[in-house]
Amino acid sequence: MVHVQFNPELLSTLKEKVVVLTGGATGIGRSAVTQFVGKHRLTRYRRYDYADYATEAGCKVVFGDVNEAAARELKSTLGDSVRFQHCDTSSYQSQLDLFTLAETTYGQVDVVVANAGVANHKDVFDPNSDISVEPSMMEVDINLKGAIFTARIGMHYLRKIGGGDLILVSSIAGFKECGGLAPYTAKTKLVKGIEAGWRELGLPENEAEDVARSIVLCASANRSEEGKTHPGAKMPFAGKILWIAGGQAYEIEDAIQDLEPQWLGEENSKVLAKGQAFLASQGTSWDAEKLEQKTP
Ligand SMILES: NC(=O)c1ccc[n+]([C@@H]2O[C@H](COP(=O)([O-])OP(=O)(O)OC[C@H]3O[C@@H](n4cnc5c(N)ncnc54)[C@H](O)[C@@H]3O)[C@@H](O)[C@H]2O)c1
Repeated sequence: MVHVQFNPELLSTLKEKVVVLTGGATGIGRSAVTQFVGKHRLTRYRRYDYADYATEAGCKVVFGDVNEAAARELKSTLGDSVRFQHCDTSSYQSQLDLFTLAETTYGQVDVVVANAGVANHKDVFDPNSDISVEPSMMEVDINLKGAIFTARIGMHYLRKIGGGDLILVSSIAGFKECGGLAPYTAKTKLVKGIEAGWRELGLPENEAEDVARSIVLCASANRSEEGKTHPGAKMPFAGKILWIAGGQAYEIEDAIQDLEPQWLGEENSKVLAKGQAFLASQGTSWDAEKLEQKTP
């Protein structure tokens, strides 16, 4: 685990970059939209001493959401650097339209953030539930399928300009079994049910701004032409996982990979590395149809 500290100087590397973000009307997404545009002063952050720091990212942001009222209210406070369009991320067409808007308005897409998410708070395995009634799968449709759609379409646009940043917002519950509880929560409407108990235990809290700042951190980590990055970030900052706790960002993926021989066993780890090298080699594909095409 490595503590990655936000370096506000890197905000300047985002100037005029075009961000497409889903779920921007409230919570973490709303704060990320605001921070990408830059209509905030870093002095707001309670845990940081950025006293006179007023650098603004200065991005153009196109965001989608199903909550039109909150989205339009945000757009009206942020002005012309922001475009909003109704987008239900579980609809592929809806997401295609969002990216089209970004390209037609600003010419390209540099940063993609899959942030839209919901929590249903109903246990599909509840033994007392009526088995004859099909349960809602909205979390799968929005949190999983929707994020895959964003990543797929987003990568298409990022490839067009030779690469950019794709940031996926997830939960600890997307990474570790949490017994119905997502620890280290950001205080948004998603977690109203557990807020009081969480506080009683004195567990570390995040504000939506903390998570949003880590999204901005991810979007700027690789962008400096002088090779500067956020203290603690190991370059290239790709394929990383930031764990946000108590307002701080910790990179955890590198340590998981480094420790693989211990938790998987040295021999298994070596075999896996060979297999992965094979899978990553040119021409290797899981798609049997491609194999048939190659075979005369
Ligand atoms: N708050 C937490 O503690 C917490 C913990 C873990 C993960 N997350 C993740 O953070 C992200 C942001 O959540 P948040 O906490 O800011 O909650 P939030 O409810 O404030 O924000 C989520 C936003 O997504 C929008 N949305 C919902 N369904 C949508 C859809 N189908 N299409 C487009 N937009 C849709 C909502 O209208 C809302 O504006 C989510 O992906 C969530 O899973 C949050």
